[in-house]
Amino acid sequence: MAEFSLPKNSRITQGKTWRAPAGATNVRTFKVYRWDPDTDANPRTDVYEIDMDTCGPMVLDALIKIKNEIDPTLTFRRSCREGICGSCSMNIDGRNTLACTKALEEIKGEVKIYPLPHMPVVKDLVPDLTHFYAQYASIQPWLKTETPAPSGRERLQSPEDRKKLDGLYECILCASCSTACPSYWWNSDRYLGPAVLLQAYRWIVDSRDEATGERLDQLEDPFRLYRCHTIMNCTNTCPKGLNPAEAIGEIKQLLVERQGA
Ligand code: SF4
Ligand code: FES
Repeated sequence: MAEFSLPKNSRITQGKTWRAPAGATNVRTFKVYRWDPDTDANPRTDVYEIDMDTCGPMVLDALIKIKNEIDPTLTFRRSCREGICGSCSMNIDGRNTLACTKALEEIKGEVKIYPLPHMPVVKDLVPDLTHFYAQYASIQPWLKTETPAPSGRERLQSPEDRKKLDGLYECILCASCSTACPSYWWNSDRYLGPAVLLQAYRWIVDSRDEATGERLDQLEDPFRLYRCHTIMNCTNTCPKGLNPAEAIGEIKQLLVERQGA
C-alpha cells in the first residue's frame, strides 16, 4: 500500500488570539496565516479582533492596523494602496485579490487571509514570485523591432491598433490569476500561466512589434501554452477585471490561422 507523508511544515496549527480592546463595540475577527522561516514551527493562523470604529474600510487598512498597533511581526507586501502596483495580492475570503481594493463590507463574518495559493512562502502573506517573474522575462516583454524608427519620430499607431491593447496593458502582474489556476498549480514548471500569457499576447498584438512570428513560435508548445484548459478561474478572479482566458484563446486562434495559411 502506498504511504504518504506530508512535507515538513505542511500542517497549519492554531496560533495566538489577540483580543479586541476593552470597550470596543464594533469588533470584527481576522484569521491570518502566519509562517516564519526563521523558526522550525509549523504555519499557524493567528486571530486578531479589531475595533472597526478605528479602522479603514479595506482589508489592507486592517492589515496595516494589525501591524502598526497590535502585532509588528505580521509580514505582507503593499505599496500603492490603490490597485496599481500589484504587490498586495493575497487570498482573502477564499479568493485571490488585492487587499487594498477589497472592501471589508463585501466580506461576511470572519475575514480569512492567506498568501496566494500554491506558491512557496517567503514569510506570512508574502509569496515567492521569483519563478513567476522569470517566466514573465521569458516572453521578452518589450517592443522588438528590426526596421529603424522614422528619423526623429516615435513609432506611431493608429487609434484602432492602439485600442487592441485595451484590456491587456492594464495588467499589474499581481499573479492572482495564475495562482488561481489549477493547471498552473500542477504544471507551473513549464506552463506559463494566465498572467504571463496575457502579457505575451499584449506584445503579439502590438502593431509596432516586429517579432510576432518568433513570439508565436516560442508559445507553440504542449506545456507553455496548451496547459490552459479554459477553466476560467483566471478571468473570474482578476481584480482588474481583465480576461486572461480570452487572451489565451486569441493566441491559440492565431496559431491555428498560421497553420492554415
Ligand atoms: S491578468 Fe489580472 S489577475 Fe492576472 S496578473 Fe494581470 S491584473 Fe493580476
Ligand atoms: S498596494 Fe498596490 S495594488 Fe495593493
